[in-house]
Formats: sequence, C-alpha cells, structure tokens
Amino acid sequence: MRHNAQLSSDFLVIGGGIAGLTFAIKAAEAGTVTVLTKAGSSEANTAYAQGGIASVWSVHDSFESHIEDTLRAGAGLCDRAAVETIIREGPEAVRELIRLGTRFTRVETGGPDDSEQEYDLGREGGHSHRRVLHAQDLTGREIMRALTEAAAARPNIRTLENHIAINLLVENPTAGKPYACWGVYALDRSTHEIRKVISRATMLATGGAGKVYLYTTNPDIASGDGVAMAYRAGAAVANLEFYQFHPTCLYHPAAKSFLISEALRGEGAILKLPDGTAFMKRYHPDAELAPRDIVARAIDSEMKRHGLDFVYLDLSHRDADFIRRRFPNIFKGCLSFGYDLTKGPIPVVPAAHYMCGGVQTDLDGRTSIPRLYAAGEVAMTGLHGANRLASNSLLEAAVMGRRGFAAAREIVASGGGAPPEFPEWDPGRAIRSEERVMITQSWDEIRRLMWNYVGIVRSDQRLERALRRIELIKEEIHSYYWDHLLDADTIELRNLATVAELVVRSAMTRRESRGLHYNIDHPETGGPEWVHPTVLQKFAQ
Ligand code: FAD
Ligand code: SIN
Repeated sequence: MRHNAQLSSDFLVIGGGIAGLTFAIKAAEAGTVTVLTKAGSSEANTAYAQGGIASVWSVHDSFESHIEDTLRAGAGLCDRAAVETIIREGPEAVRELIRLGTRFTRVETGGPDDSEQEYDLGREGGHSHRRVLHAQDLTGREIMRALTEAAAARPNIRTLENHIAINLLVENPTAGKPYACWGVYALDRSTHEIRKVISRATMLATGGAGKVYLYTTNPDIASGDGVAMAYRAGAAVANLEFYQFHPTCLYHPAAKSFLISEALRGEGAILKLPDGTAFMKRYHPDAELAPRDIVARAIDSEMKRHGLDFVYLDLSHRDADFIRRRFPNIFKGCLSFGYDLTKGPIPVVPAAHYMCGGVQTDLDGRTSIPRLYAAGEVAMTGLHGANRLASNSLLEAAVMGRRGFAAAREIVASGGGAPPEFPEWDPGRAIRSEERVMITQSWDEIRRLMWNYVGIVRSDQRLERALRRIELIKEEIHSYYWDHLLDADTIELRNLATVAELVVRSAMTRRESRGLHYNIDHPETGGPEWVHPTVLQKFAQ
C-alpha cells in the first residue's frame, strides 16, 4: 500500500448519485469540485430507480395533497418544515433535471413538446394523485445519464472513480475546538494508494445501506459507508430503526435484486396467494395502494401463515401492449427468468430497499459537524419520518443537493483559514490472504442475522441476540483484520457492522411500533413521548 500526494479542491463530494451530482453541478459554478465514487460512475442506487420522482405537476394536484400524503405515510414522525420545504421546491428541482437533459416520458397526445402538462404521471402507493414523473420504468438510469453527462461537461469537476472513502478528516474529533471536517482519506482501488482528499466543504452523498440485509433491492455499493463514517467522526445520526422493505422483488434464485416497481400496482396489479385469492383488502382499504410498510407486512404475514416462499403479483388483466410499452425493462427482465407479465402472475417477495434514517441534517444539508453536509439517502432531513412515501427519495435528493450547495458555498466563500495538517494513513501490516474467508463469513453473518432478527417484524429477544452477535463481529474486525487488511471489502465490512449496530440500537430504543418499525413485544403505537427522532451520537462537541 502506497501513499500519493494529497488532492485539494474547494468542494468534495463523496458519491455520484442524484444527490452528489446535483450538488457538484451547482458547486462547479462557485469553485473546484472533486467527486469520489467507490465503483464506476454509473453504479449508484439512483441508476436502479424504476417508478420515478414524485412532484406536484398537474393542475389537478396540490402541494397540500402531496404534503398530507407524505405526513400520513410518515406515521407522525415527519418534520413538517422539511416536508413543506422539500415538496414545495420539488417542481423547480425537477425542472432543473429537465434543463440538465433528463427526458421524462411524455403522454402521447401529439401536443406541443415543451408543455409541462404533457408529461405522463404515474401513481404509487400512498399517493392520492398521479404525480410521479418517470422515464418508462428506467427513470434512474435516465437521470444518471443526464447528470453524468452534465458533470463531465464541466471542467471544474474532477471525478475519481473507484475511490472508496475510508474515514473523514476531522479536526479535533474528540474534544475542544475548532472542530470541522476537511475532507477524507480514500483508497484508490485500482492502485491501492491511500490519498488525502482535502476540501473546504464536504458533501456526503453515499446513498443507502441495503447490503446490511440478506435480501435487498440495492446494488453492491449500498453498504452504509456514509452513516458509519459520519457516526465515527461524531455526527448525530437518526431514525435508523426505520428501514424500508419494498413489497415486491422478483423471487427467483438467479434474479439478484430485481425490483418489480410499485408503479405496476399503480396500474392495477393485484397481490395474490397461490390459489388466486387477493388478500390486500383485508389489510387496508386502499389494498395494493396502501403505504409500503403495510403492504410489506401483509405479504410477510401471508407468507408466514401459509408457509410460502413468495406470493404472486398479477397484471395480466391489463392490455399486453400497454404492459410492454409502460414497463419495458421489467417485462424483459421477467421474461429472461421465464415469466411473461402479460400472460400470468409473477412470484414476488419483500426485500430491504431504503434507509429512512441517516445522518441528521438541517434543511440546508448541514450535519452536526461544521463543513460536513449530507444529502440524499444517507441523510435524515425529517421528510420521511417513520416510513417513506414512494418516489419521494429522488425528490428529496434533488432538492437537498441544491439546498446543500447554497449553504456550502457560503462557507467556502468565507475562507476560514487553512486546513490543518492531517497525518498520512498508517499503512499497517502486510495482507494475509488466508483471512479472506473470515471476511466473507462476517459479511454473511451480519446480513443473515439482520434479515432474521431485525427485519420486517422484530422482538426484544431477537434484537438482543442481534446486538450480541454484532458486537462480537465488530471486536473481531478490529482485532484481526482492520489494521492489516485494508481493502474495499474490509472497509465495507467495518461500515456494515457499524450500521447494523446502529439500526439495532435505534430499534431497541423505540419501545413501540410505528411505521416501518414493528416489534411484537410493543405492538401498539405509543403516545406523544415517542413522537421524536431516535438520535444516536458517539460524542458531541
Ligand atoms: P446513490 O444513488 O446510491 O449514490 C451513492 C454514491 O455514493 C455512489 O456513487 C457510490 O459509489 C458512492 N459511494 C458510496 N460509498 C462510498 C464511499 N465509501 N466512497 C466513495 N463513494 C461512495 N426512489 C425514488 O424516489 N423513486 C424510485 O422509483 C426509486 N426506485 C428505486 C429502485 C431501486 C431498485 C432502488 C435500489 C432504489 C430506488 N429508489 C427510488 C431509491 C432511490 O433510488 C435512492 O434513494 C436514491 O437514488 C439515492 O440517491 P443518492 O444520490 O443518495 O445515492
Ligand atoms: C418503485 O418503483 O417501486 C420504487 C419506488 C421507490 O422506491 O420510491
């Protein structure tokens, strides 16, 4: 392992999904920008988004209605100011995506191309209006295409792919003043060099942590690095007990993380048992379009009651041409596994999907560490509360990327002295390759115990068992591999263990059931004493 000369820029962005790139493109107007992505540029949760981005767009819709739907889904824990701000600024953030080149699907009316009313609006669970702009069923891929092209066209932005951030560079991380973030240590995965990347403002946009669970819709990059790095550095993290499970992932041994968008249910798809009985009406008057936590729990309960490995989702009553045109990617994906959406039901199961909690920020993206900002899935603004409304996350990331820039620009413009000298990363001892099996074993243990003990339904005993095991794994990571086997796998394993611990500790703290957090030992929703975020912080300045 070698060290390279340090890199410096005005702004550092850790993560190149919708939140990071929205921020970077704005920041390039004000200074130099470095964007780190731990894999290739296109590998981000954003690229997999199917349903779309929720925003008030039609004259039949209103901000009040979107706000009401978001608050209802959030089960009493949303921060009203965050909800109002993000929803009201949504249309402008969407217009900016369009200005940057995103092509959302239009209604085929033959009308003028530039009319906003011409965009096709999808419907998803918990929304009382059609308000989801989409690019067929490949919305995220289209947004990523537009944003990566826009970023590449700006000479002020330097993107370093395959650079995985390890630890934040925080001045005086345990006591006293001044206390601030000045960048990050990052491992260049292609050369094995560790670099110090220095900046005056750091935007954390590392996305979610689906990989902490055995079954997830998320790609491999989603290992919760941002939450773990920020927590280690002393930032407040919040609401991590609220992990959202998407109700419908394709069930097939070879289908890794293949999401079946909620937009199918928005177009009439019905959840059924193997004998063809529809069951959602028994759980909620909105049936398939009930909020996501209710649908996922209903499926989980039917699977347990009948001893099933999956339930079915059926859209075959809709016109075959419509299905192929509206959901080309899902149609093709299912066909490749032997299921024809136009001809019959497909097998589906819930899977871990979205981290509603994260690094706590204010409405300008400020974390509790000066000069450190966070936006997108890694952040907890208060928008989602105890349960995120479908398609509100691309919206939050786009709005908060812009708002975070406005705040970071001020701190960069104000100067504020030179960054302190940070030591080179201690390269530690040589790699011992036989230890690889211990790393894969620890990964599997964490993901399986989180699935079995900290999943859709929890209990006090399961949470206690989970915590004991995670503590042991954390101890092993630190005593056996951390200081002598520094590669992407160990970096991610350490972060996964931290995030798993934080999810469990948050879940143990909340002794009630609310939104996505359901504990059979505390099945009721508690009183006003529980209406606050669950905040964890290692130390505060
Ligand atoms: P991401 O897009 O995940 O980007 C994270 C970036 O951080 C990546 O570039 C990654 O390389 C980088 N990174 C991570 N760790 C490190 C590190 N240690 N060092 C350096 N770089 C790092 N939401 C909706 O609103 N609508 C939808 O239709 C929708 N559909 C979805 C479908 C799927 C299958 C999935 C998985 C999610 C979906 N979501 C949807 C959720 C939404 O896509 C994500 O919440 C959102 O895209 C997150 O964006 P982000 O910019 O915060 O993070
Ligand atoms: C989906 O298309 O079902 C995903 C939407 C979301 O996660 O918001």
